Amino acid sequence: MLEDELAFAEHLADEAGRIAMSFFGGTFEVHEKADRSPVTEADIAIEKWIRASVHERYPADGVLGEEGGLQGEGSTRRWIVDPIDGTKNFADGIQIWANLIALAIEGEPVLGVVNAPALNERYTALDGSGARLNGTPIHVSRCDRISRASIVFASMDQWLDGPYRAPVQDLVRQARRNRGFGDFWGHMLVARGAADVMLESELNTWDYAALQVVVREAGGRVTRFDGGQLRHGDSVLSTNGLLHDEIVARLQHGKE
Ligand code: IPD
Ligand code: CA
Ligand code: CA
Repeated sequence: MLEDELAFAEHLADEAGRIAMSFFGGTFEVHEKADRSPVTEADIAIEKWIRASVHERYPADGVLGEEGGLQGEGSTRRWIVDPIDGTKNFADGIQIWANLIALAIEGEPVLGVVNAPALNERYTALDGSGARLNGTPIHVSRCDRISRASIVFASMDQWLDGPYRAPVQDLVRQARRNRGFGDFWGHMLVARGAADVMLESELNTWDYAALQVVVREAGGRVTRFDGGQLRHGDSVLSTNGLLHDEIVARLQHGKE
């Protein structure tokens, strides 16, 4: 089931990656959006191409994209697209960025493609079929103790103050290792067992839809910091599953 959609999503990722790589490392326009986040010519070109391709192949499906918003509000199936996740890295010439493509059916993401051509990494996952990195099955780690865990997060400034300052600082002190590996990549490191926990205080639907399917299909768990279902503009915790309840409990008990 949905094999055709996965092949189509990979085709979208091929072209998205090609467009992005034609700009990456070169000179291109970067604009600041109303929310002060950057957008480049590449983001716009990729999302435009993906929208047109979905419309041609699956005209009944809706599309939610970071740059162009929602088309097809009443559709049962919705493609969710972040043309470039990690735009600041992309603009700074850092290889950690990806094209994120997901398909949600009745609101539930069931297919995810995370395409990171500058890292030579493509993660794919389909509900019930496992997750893959460049075609090879991947699995989360078996780490079951914080003292042995590798904890990753995006920017440190998220934890300097705010409600989760104290519990996150405690976790970082107690863990075997901590690193700032942000954007999609921290979650993919959890999916492939290279890290055990990824914390992000605020993500939008297009940031997490594809990641969520990959982490879940690799055997991990993805929730908000309070253990609830993900929602637009809220926190995202990806773990190997074994550490999930303990991390949620620590975040909630230590919260200010
Ligand atoms: C950003 C990434 C990042 C998150 C930011 C987002 P963008 O997306 O998802 O992980 O911390 O809040 O804006 O703008 O690079 O697609
Ligand atoms: Ca993003
Ligand atoms: Ca983006």
